[in-house]
Amino acid sequence: MPVVNRVAELHDEITGWRREFHSNPELLYDVHETAASVADKLTQFGCDEVATGIGKTGVVGVIKGSKPDNGRVIGLRADMDALPIHEQTGLPHASKVDGKMHACGHDGHTAMLLGAAKYLAETRNFAGTAVVIFQPAEEGGAGGKAMVDDGMMDRFGVDEVYGLHNIPGRDIGSFAIRSGPVMAAADQFDIKIVGRGGHAAMPHLSVDPIVIAAQVVTGLQSIVSRTKNPIDSLVISVTRIVAGTTHNVIPNEVNLSGTVRALNEEVRQSAIEKLHAVANGIAGAHSATAEIDYQQGYPVTYNHDEQTEKAARIASIVAGENGVEVGVPPVMGGEDFSFMLEARPGAFIFMGNGDTAGLHHPEYDFNDEAIPYGCSYWIKLVETLLEAPAN
Ligand code: NI
Repeated sequence: MPVVNRVAELHDEITGWRREFHSNPELLYDVHETAASVADKLTQFGCDEVATGIGKTGVVGVIKGSKPDNGRVIGLRADMDALPIHEQTGLPHASKVDGKMHACGHDGHTAMLLGAAKYLAETRNFAGTAVVIFQPAEEGGAGGKAMVDDGMMDRFGVDEVYGLHNIPGRDIGSFAIRSGPVMAAADQFDIKIVGRGGHAAMPHLSVDPIVIAAQVVTGLQSIVSRTKNPIDSLVISVTRIVAGTTHNVIPNEVNLSGTVRALNEEVRQSAIEKLHAVANGIAGAHSATAEIDYQQGYPVTYNHDEQTEKAARIASIVAGENGVEVGVPPVMGGEDFSFMLEARPGAFIFMGNGDTAGLHHPEYDFNDEAIPYGCSYWIKLVETLLEAPAN
């Protein structure tokens, strides 16, 4: 039986929690009700310690094993926040809040980790300590960083940290992982090209920022195609261009926005440098200026070799050898768990959500059939990695 028996018994209860979270989505750090519910449950389960307000609204539960303490501490992390999307699933447990929904399955992640915490607090069949981490603000607010900056890793003595995310389009009960970069660094930028507006029929009296902006857009693509090693991954997408008011007026300025994604820090830093050079250089060549606001977001989510090997081995206990794809290609999306992986060795694993709508889609719903697998993965991770007393 790949799924832990007790977890199969808890499936309905965990599904209930999941749907409750789903109906009541909260955004970013404003996850007060979700965090309170998580903290209440952890207390009811009999965790040795429940800490709230870490990284503003993060919650941490500590569960000590009943075998002789080996001094080892494993951190397991889930995210609690939803997205500013209007839900269109029509499900009975659909969001009760207009314009907010759990479209990334963080409701499921939270419920599964709670299920594991309940089991681990009941059984305590391990040596050492399990630390369950519930973070706010994964969706763009760097809640994981906030918890790390708040001293979470040192305070709870975390040695290794593990994360999990559901993936639509993969089979229920299957997992996928890779060593090294698994998700991209995700930055954003705004560039204002300032020229000199005027009459469209007398362009020689103006500095036309639209023509310049068009060259900047093309120039940015040349960074990807001409300056980076083709083996490396880099995306630069200009996603917004705002300028002008009518047909016969050259505007004063053009505003460009976009995103930069990379799978290694060197490529990212080089892209940042070249983006500035291209925008400033092209603007300067045409007597305009470029005002660049570059915002570095989440770093590369980097899986450590040893912990990736452990995570894959444990996932195969739950899913069977054939149920774990090792060496899956990386994803160019960003993930806030990256900050925890910068602070401690660990690994981030993907888990199949079956044939559902995609992440961040208004018809997406976390698949409750996946609960026993995610829950069992967490349990096996703790029971296997904290199996033996220190020698
Ligand atoms: Ni997510």
